[in-house]
Amino acid sequence: MVGATGAVGVEMIRTLEKRKFPVGKLTLLASGRSAGKTLKYKGTDVIITELTKDSFKGVDIALFSAGGSISREFAPIAVQAGAVVVDNSSAFRMDDSVPLVVPEINAADVKLHKGIIANPNCTTAITLMALYPLHKAFGVTRVFASSYQAVSGTGAKAIEELRRQVEQIATNQQVTREVYPHQIAFNVLPQVDSFLPTGYTKEEMKMENEGRKIMHHPAFRASVTCVRVPVYRAHSVAISAEFQKPVSVDAARDVLSRAPGLDVVDTPEKAEYPLPLYVAERDNCQVGRIRKDCALENGLCFWVVGDQLLKGAALNAVQIAEELLK
Ligand SMILES: NC(=O)c1ccc[n+]([C@@H]2O[C@H](COP(=O)([O-])OP(=O)(O)OC[C@H]3O[C@@H](n4cnc5c(N)ncnc54)[C@H](OP(=O)(O)O)[C@@H]3O)[C@@H](O)[C@H]2O)c1
Repeated sequence: MVGATGAVGVEMIRTLEKRKFPVGKLTLLASGRSAGKTLKYKGTDVIITELTKDSFKGVDIALFSAGGSISREFAPIAVQAGAVVVDNSSAFRMDDSVPLVVPEINAADVKLHKGIIANPNCTTAITLMALYPLHKAFGVTRVFASSYQAVSGTGAKAIEELRRQVEQIATNQQVTREVYPHQIAFNVLPQVDSFLPTGYTKEEMKMENEGRKIMHHPAFRASVTCVRVPVYRAHSVAISAEFQKPVSVDAARDVLSRAPGLDVVDTPEKAEYPLPLYVAERDNCQVGRIRKDCALENGLCFWVVGDQLLKGAALNAVQIAEELLK
């Protein structure tokens, strides 16, 4: 495991435990800063070692979550040493020779790998958990979406930044910031990732680009606004989707209630709908606020929430590794 000490890394360790993944020997790798520290796996301390070119001897499966530049440098070295890499970064997602997989959607693509399999963008994976079953039934043409993304999506330093800023405000101290361009506590930031010449951010284009690849749907279109919110964990996405076929709320609910890895939470009269606070640490994503879109032909609005450290990263990566064993 490369990046074992990170926000995603620690969840991957827990996910391996929880799902009883058959691990012979677990090698935990991180930067030199973490070398010598330990993390618990099945109640035993495992010593973290520094990632080097020689880290992959005897490794069958390498789970990478240490950022794109580390993946670009070390994933080919791991493959050369005989490992299959499951990569959480964006480095290889749009590479034609690399499968990009959400097992509930395109598990069969795993078998096409040439050494590296990519894990999708977290907001895209969570959205597709509800959108893909609807696409199968009604044929999606395009979506308009806004995301409400938790700080843990940025990593361990951003979790600390929100915690620190909340404390600074509560104790009347000067607010300091290191991770985001603006204060995140008691604020929302309409910027996730860097801007492209079109005015969209890189994060915003992932839903269209990765969605096309995962759903095998090259004509799929997505106009997205990604927003960072002061939530610790779990991303929420508000979606308006247009379909080829007419879609009723009852038919959509029937499809969604049978979708794997997804729970329908949709009793608005009791104020019951998916909430990031309650979806955090759950494997399944949740969908609610299902209604006909009043501004689109054959349109449906819905609200999906998922723990992006799990379905958007660690859980999906371990599910891909499970596919490798089949
Ligand atoms: N957070 C999410 O929700 C999420 C979702 C999907 C995908 N991802 C992707 O997953 C990756 C990790 O994200 P994260 O949120 O877990 O980040 P993070 O909390 O900042 O963790 C980064 C990890 O990378 C390690 N690392 C940094 N520099 C290294 C180096 N030179 N050599 C070896 N290891 C190094 C860190 O080790 P030290 O502790 O030793 O510094 C740490 O284990 C990123 O590519 C991210 O885009 C994240």
